[in-house]
Amino acid sequence: MFNKVYISDRVFWIGVNDRRKRLFENIWPLPEGVSYNSYIIVDEKTALIDTVDVTAGKCFLDTVDKYLAGKTLDYLVINHIEPDHSGEIAGILKKYPEVKILGNAATKRIFEACFGATSNFEDVGKGAVVKLGHHELSFVMTPWVHWPETMMTVDLTEKIVFSGDAFGTFGTLNGGIFDDEVNFEFYRDEALRYYSNIVGKYSNMVQKAIAKLAGTEIRCICPTHGPVWRKDPQKIIDLYNKWSRYEAEDGLLIIYASMYGNTEMMADYIARKVAEKGVRNIRIYDVSKTHISYLIREAWKYRNIFLGSCAYNTGMFPLIDHLCCELEHLGLQNRRLGIFGSFSWNGGGVKNLVKFAENIKWELIAEPVEIKGIPSDEDFRKCDALAEALV
Ligand SMILES: Cc1cc2nc3c(=O)[nH]c(=O)nc-3n(C[C@H](O)[C@H](O)[C@H](O)COP(=O)(O)O)c2cc1C
Ligand SMILES: [Fe+2]
Ligand SMILES: [Fe+2]
Repeated sequence: MFNKVYISDRVFWIGVNDRRKRLFENIWPLPEGVSYNSYIIVDEKTALIDTVDVTAGKCFLDTVDKYLAGKTLDYLVINHIEPDHSGEIAGILKKYPEVKILGNAATKRIFEACFGATSNFEDVGKGAVVKLGHHELSFVMTPWVHWPETMMTVDLTEKIVFSGDAFGTFGTLNGGIFDDEVNFEFYRDEALRYYSNIVGKYSNMVQKAIAKLAGTEIRCICPTHGPVWRKDPQKIIDLYNKWSRYEAEDGLLIIYASMYGNTEMMADYIARKVAEKGVRNIRIYDVSKTHISYLIREAWKYRNIFLGSCAYNTGMFPLIDHLCCELEHLGLQNRRLGIFGSFSWNGGGVKNLVKFAENIKWELIAEPVEIKGIPSDEDFRKCDALAEALV
């Protein structure tokens, strides 16, 4: 039976869950899947807000049709034109050729590159208000969260913010769609992994977007991924605010690269010493085992990060090199760093980790510890300095 999901009397969630895709953007693992949330307002005039990914949208057009119940679609709002939300635009244009597209100048450029020129595009980037009847829509430009055209749509009547990828999370909607229907613990880590991997590079633009929303009364946040926030929209705003300010938790994150176990022994030794000093929340990851997506998330979570690498062909181990390169690219800030590693002839691991520290401008909390071959008792004592500097 057709089970309508009401956001308010005339506003509905019409998203889909994707439990099949293995890699989001063909890079980020999706063990808990992802939802693509689309929304429809059926007023005197009708408006669809974003669509869904083409791979998951088998019944999407039929669903739109059912909600319209014989009406035509007057408006298609494009808050974000990335293909995970624009997958069904072509289908919508074909089915409702008269539909008016609402977006901004940057949206129009990408729209035309993907779907061809149209005279039905209305630029709402400069303070437009669109009246649907009971509902009135205004538009907040939030560029670079995380594409140039990203914007939010505000339902002025019901105080609903359709926020695009902002305030989104990985993880499908498993029956529960609203924040008061789900256990957020299921989403907490996936929300940060989504933020850090997808949006984090644009943290300054997230800050600007949050500042722009400051004067807006918000009763409900409808993002394009994950739960709809009707009970406590401030909760996800606060989390995004914290993450985009690079605020972090105490504790210690250790990520090491080790072929034969020497650098790993140093990691375990340091972690034990740190635990003896009373630090709880210590996490150790082998860079070769855990996908970089999770390591980036953990780096976003912890203030103290120790990186270890064996030397490898005069450089660091390739996978930790990749991680460092990504962290630098994402521009993660305000972290305290410790460095360690093993080599056998002229080194390369620690040397390049130090270069990384200089480039990313993290605080180096102690002298890097570089040892030759298998760590001796004396080498382990050098590691004590790292543990001491941390606490
Ligand atoms: C493929 C390969 C490349 C290496 N390149 C270097 C190097 O450029 N400089 C160096 O000092 N040691 C180099 N080594 C030696 C290792 O860094 C050394 O054995 C170290 O103790 C290994 O630490 P691990 O047990 O943590 O892997 C290399 C070893 C291998 C297997
Ligand atoms: Fe996106
Ligand atoms: Fe998205």
